[in-house]
Amino acid sequence: MDIWHIRGGRRLEGIYRVQGSKNASLPILAASILGGAEIELENVPQLRDIDAALRILRHLGCKAEQKNNLVYIKSNDLTRSSIPHELMLEMRSSVIFMGALLARCGEARLSPPGGCRLGKRPIDLHLAALRKLGAEIEERGGDIHCRAKRLRGTEIRLPFPSVGATENILLAATAAEGETVIRGAAREPEIEALAAYLQKAGCRIAGAGTDTVTIGEYRPADYVRHRVLADRIAASTVACAAAAAGGEVELRGAESAHFSTVLHFLKRAGCDIISENTCVRLRSDGCLNAVGRVRTEPYPGFPTDAQPVLMAALLKARGCTEITETIFENRFRQVPELKRLGADIRLCDRSAVIRGVGRLTGAALEATDLRGGAAMIVAGLAAEGETLVRDTGHIRRGYEAFDRCLRDLGADVRLGIEP
Ligand code: UD1
Repeated sequence: MDIWHIRGGRRLEGIYRVQGSKNASLPILAASILGGAEIELENVPQLRDIDAALRILRHLGCKAEQKNNLVYIKSNDLTRSSIPHELMLEMRSSVIFMGALLARCGEARLSPPGGCRLGKRPIDLHLAALRKLGAEIEERGGDIHCRAKRLRGTEIRLPFPSVGATENILLAATAAEGETVIRGAAREPEIEALAAYLQKAGCRIAGAGTDTVTIGEYRPADYVRHRVLADRIAASTVACAAAAAGGEVELRGAESAHFSTVLHFLKRAGCDIISENTCVRLRSDGCLNAVGRVRTEPYPGFPTDAQPVLMAALLKARGCTEITETIFENRFRQVPELKRLGADIRLCDRSAVIRGVGRLTGAALEATDLRGGAAMIVAGLAAEGETLVRDTGHIRRGYEAFDRCLRDLGADVRLGIEP
């Protein structure tokens, strides 16, 4: 059990070098099995979810090692095409191994994935798309068994731009005969990042980052070296922390365009923000204004993953903010915990109304999920006295050395471990 001790009230000052992106790394790790190449990935964050993906790769027969932020993978001797239940449960992204295994082995056997409990997280769009490519899929006793003697390129229309389904199609389609066209594809930067990796690895792809993506011929390269994109959600989290606590921070390495909707609301709340391509300077006096209505949406809309941390930043903001969550049905799990600090939040169906309070007072909280846990830390930095956040490891799933990063910015944060 991790125990975060946060003593609020200190301004954050300094430079945050944004970590590599978890959500961009995971599909690339799954993609690493495709061609049997030797792969070196730079800027991969050291996180629990990355460890879980590396363990899956080793289980499948790959050599997969991480040294600091460099990952080395060799997948020429794949020995298995199934992933055991315990490994699947460790994270949601394990589901994208389905498309990659199907492409490499013509078969994938796995169980439904784990991950944050944000409500129902079906994979019907993934399965329908893989069927359309020619896979036969049996679901029996909680197990999913996909098989395909050959996959055939086709047109797949997604009724919702699911990030994971788009990734699974990209991966499976590398082995399809002929061209595959995805319409209604997710446009997240992580999709573009996966496509950029696949292109380097020898696949013809056009349109990634738009709603129509075409996947053509794949001629596997022998060796790929690739640098993973910076994490727009980690950058957003530190921006929200500095906005809430007050201070002046420089976020280096993340494309500012990738989290411009978050910066837009922080600016509206009263922060001074100067953004250049991969550098954002944010100054806040800690006295923010409410921002009206915020609605989470698929990219380029406001990201659901940044919703809890923006909420935490606005708990003391003058006026009312209404946040509507449209992506996940249960993504306000942080709310009862934030209320323990004195926050005034009313939940109504898919919206949360935050009425700014004059002060927050430290309290003992339980991290409910990854981004909810991060929100509690952001709120703790803006609260008076000490906030404790007890966490079974959610925050480590997505933030690399987060306690050290915050301390480097001057925060009074300590991470203790209890049995
Ligand atoms: C990814 C991100 C996650 C982010 C989310 C939305 C990773 C590892 N995770 O998750 O951090 O919050 O995108 O930006 O990259 N849905 C279905 N059927 C499906 C698939 C999805 O109904 O087959 C629904 C989901 O229940 C959810 C919504 O679509 O309500 C969004 O899901 P999706 O875009 O697939 O998110 P993930 O890929 O799981």
